Amino acid sequence: MQEPSTGLIDAAARLLRAGGLVAFPTETVYGLGANAADPVAVRRIFEAKGRPADHPLIVHLHDPGTLDFWARDIPEKAFRLAESFWPGPLTLILKRRHAPLAVTGGQDTVGLRVPGHPVALMLLKAFGGGVAAPSANRFGRVSPTRARHVREELKDKVDLILDGGPCQVGVESTIVDLSGPQPILLRPGHITRQQLEDVLQTELIILQHPEQSTLRAPGLMAVHYAPVTKAMLCAGEDLPDIVQSLTAQGQKIGLLGYQQAIRAHLQLHSIRLPQQAEAYAQALYAALRELDRLQLDLILVEQPPETEAWRAINDRLNKATVPFQSN
Ligand code: TXA
Ligand code: MG
Repeated sequence: MQEPSTGLIDAAARLLRAGGLVAFPTETVYGLGANAADPVAVRRIFEAKGRPADHPLIVHLHDPGTLDFWARDIPEKAFRLAESFWPGPLTLILKRRHAPLAVTGGQDTVGLRVPGHPVALMLLKAFGGGVAAPSANRFGRVSPTRARHVREELKDKVDLILDGGPCQVGVESTIVDLSGPQPILLRPGHITRQQLEDVLQTELIILQHPEQSTLRAPGLMAVHYAPVTKAMLCAGEDLPDIVQSLTAQGQKIGLLGYQQAIRAHLQLHSIRLPQQAEAYAQALYAALRELDRLQLDLILVEQPPETEAWRAINDRLNKATVPFQSN
C-alpha cells in the first residue's frame, strides 16, 4: 500500500477548507471528515450517512495543545489521558467551548481525539484545524476498515477518499466521558479499562445498561454496527449441531468462528478469525462485510470469551447480533 502523496494530502486539506467531505484512515476505522468549524460542511456528513442530527461527532485534532480551543474547564485527568494515549484510539468527552452545536448534536459537551494513523495526522496537520468525523459508513451499519469499504458504501457522497491501507485496530476508539464529576467509560475499545484506570488512579464508571441512560452515548439504539443479514451469536459448542440442522433445512449460512472448526458444507460460508483478541478485532468488520455480501439467510457468530481483552469485541458483537434462537 502506497501512502497518499503530499500533493494529494494538500488537495484533501483544500477540499476540507472549501466545505467538502474527505474520507480518511485512522488506526481504528475510516472516518468521514469535514471542517469542524463549518456547520454547513458538518451537516453534509449527517446527510451522507443518513444520521440523525442530534447524534454528536468526534472532532479530530493533530495537536493536543488545541484542546482548550474546543473544550473548557478541562480536568487535569484529561491532560493525563491525552499525554498517555494520544495520538491513539481514545476519545475524550469534555465540556464544549468553540465546537459548533452542529458537531455536538446540540449538546454542551464535545468528543475530541488525536488519531494515531500517519495519514490522518498528515491530513490534520495540512488542514490545520479540527476535523469532525464519524465512522465513514451509512448510519447503523458496520464501520469501514478498508478504503474499499468506504467506496462501496459512500462513493457518490464524498469528495475524496484517502487510502491508508487496512486499519490496525479495527474497532472504534475507546470513549471516556470526563465532563462530569466522575470518569465514565462510554464505549470500550482497544485502550482497556485497566490501562485507563492505571493513569486515572481512580475507578471508571461502566454503564451497565447504557440504553437506560439519558446520555447520548454510542450505539444506544437497538441496531448499531449491524450487518444487513440477520446475525446471531452462539456458543462454540452448539455450533456444529446448529449448522447441521439449519443447512439441512436448506438455509444458506455464514459462520464467523475463531475456534470451532466446522466441516465444510456447500451451504456454509465460513470465515475463521484469529484466536487472539487484537488480531480478531482487526479482522472482524471486514469479515462481517464479506459475509454480508453473500445474501445469506443467517450469519452465525461464535461467542468469543467474555474476558476483559474481548470487552470491545463483545460490545460490538452484542449490538450487531441477537442471541441464537431457532424459530
Ligand atoms: O474510532 C473512532 O472513534 C472513529 C474514528 C473515525 O475516529 N469514529 C467514530 O465515530 O467511531 P462515530 O460517530 O461513528 O462514533 C462516535 C461516537 C458516537 O456514537 C457518539 O454518540 C459519541 O461518539 N460521541 C461523540 N460526541 C459525544 C458527546 N459529546 N457525548 C457523548 N458521546 C459522544
Ligand atoms: Mg459509527
